[in-house]
Amino acid sequence: MFRIGFPPKFTLPRRCFHNSAPRTSWLFRSQTTSVPAIYKARKESWMKPTMILVGIMPFFTFGLGVWQLKRLKWKINLIDELEEKLQLQPLSLPPNINLSVVEEFVFRRVIVRGKWDNAHTMLFSPRVYNGVHGFHVVTPLVRENGSTVLVDRGFVSRDCISSANWLAETGEVEVLGMLRTSQPRNLFTPNNDPAHGKWYWTDVETMAEYAGGKAAGVQPVFVEQIFEGHAGEANTKLDKGLPIGRNPTIDLRNSHLSYVITWQVQSVK
Ligand SMILES: *[C@@H]1O[C@H](CO)[C@@H](O)[C@H](O)[C@H]1NC(C)=O
Ligand SMILES: *[C@@H]1O[C@H](CO)[C@@H](O)[C@H](O)[C@H]1NC(C)=O
Repeated sequence: MFRIGFPPKFTLPRRCFHNSAPRTSWLFRSQTTSVPAIYKARKESWMKPTMILVGIMPFFTFGLGVWQLKRLKWKINLIDELEEKLQLQPLSLPPNINLSVVEEFVFRRVIVRGKWDNAHTMLFSPRVYNGVHGFHVVTPLVRENGSTVLVDRGFVSRDCISSANWLAETGEVEVLGMLRTSQPRNLFTPNNDPAHGKWYWTDVETMAEYAGGKAAGVQPVFVEQIFEGHAGEANTKLDKGLPIGRNPTIDLRNSHLSYVITWQVQSVK
């Protein structure tokens, strides 16, 4: 009937509800003297712990619903704020990035210039693009007079991955991207295994270490390249095995709404 339960160890402290006169008397103090014995017994059976739980549950679940609603509002505000951020002019990333302010600039468009360090390319799988299975290609970008940062260049299909056509870009490139941080992995995402070239989730610290770490001037800064071309261009890239960057949109999963509905429905049952 109710989805939430108390942990197995939790038992209602029976002494609070049992009919030991001294403890319940405060509940009925005004009545116990005048009501007939039978009536009193009925009243006490109504006070059985389960019934009390049933009485409390709607308030409890409604409270959870309200809490989720607050979280939802918070999240919608956050998305608005991020959308605004996304509209701002692209920033040129400074030569050395103050890591403590990266969080503030997440979802900002940024421009970085440099040369690809193809030897340290990381292929993230499994990734899907319009139903096609493949990888995301992340390559460190070595910036002249500045730190090296990590760039997710986008999607390459499984069929094209061995062609490694993206290696063709050897000169200096300018990348328009979006600043991101590590993305939380879910319960089923295996941990990365850099030694065997297996990458599953963007753990920026580990990726920076793999690319050479501090000693090699690599900063744990992660940029996702933006692709704003039309579908035709995307298909050409897909056929050639060239990475297709991400859409410049906010993709936080807005899942609080479903929780709100669940909790509110529970509370009116
Ligand atoms: C980095 O930014 C923080 C917060 O704005 C500031 O306190 C700190 O001094 C900065 N560090 C450097 C090296 O500029
Ligand atoms: C890097 O530094 C050198 C020497 O100071 C300078 O000539 C060059 O233009 C700089 N490169 C960039 C991209 O700023």
